[in-house]
Amino acid sequence: MSAASMTLFHAPASPFVRKVMVVLHETGQIDRVTLQSVNLTPVNPVAELNQGNPAGKIPALRLADGSVLHDSRVICEYLDQQHVGIALIPKEGWSRWHRLTLASLADAIMDAAVLTRYETFLRPQEMRWDSWIEAQQEKIRRGLASLEQEHMAELSSAFDIAAIGVACALGYLDLRMPDFGWREQQPQLATWYAQVSQRASMLATDPSA
Ligand code: BEZ
Repeated sequence: MSAASMTLFHAPASPFVRKVMVVLHETGQIDRVTLQSVNLTPVNPVAELNQGNPAGKIPALRLADGSVLHDSRVICEYLDQQHVGIALIPKEGWSRWHRLTLASLADAIMDAAVLTRYETFLRPQEMRWDSWIEAQQEKIRRGLASLEQEHMAELSSAFDIAAIGVACALGYLDLRMPDFGWREQQPQLATWYAQVSQRASMLATDPSA
């Protein structure tokens, strides 16, 4: 086992942090990081996190030389170049752009779900904007419908960066939007998620556990 040489700024509920954590587990690198918990919201910045990461984003990965990588896409790509196992991001060819685009759709679902969470949990009631919340939720519904109708074969073919992203997005919906009811409209996605959520990497990073 190698000594931890990197620090991951970490909040277990963040689906973007979870994505990086799942990549660390899947690539056998979890022992290379020390986790540093941050209690971050858009109105509660964390001074240490802002060093080398002016947007104050999590996840951020501080390397042994003190440099900081962000955001989750950059960190996942970095980690995928640091191991000798099967690549989670295809290195070249059309499959690279296709899988990264699917991963981007997963990120967009996460983004819309996190923004919904901020709007419904953080923002004072009198300042909430229902049309804006509905637009975020519609984005999630469109994304899930596309996964169900067009991408199940790809998701089932490998637990790579795209599948990891979708699994983390669905896990976040279950955590923060448990009444969203996505399984009824997406039965194939529900079956797939029931399987992949039992992977060791997903169980080890389950924020509700
Ligand atoms: C959450 O608690 O839902 C959350 C925490 C950090 C980043 C994003 C979401």
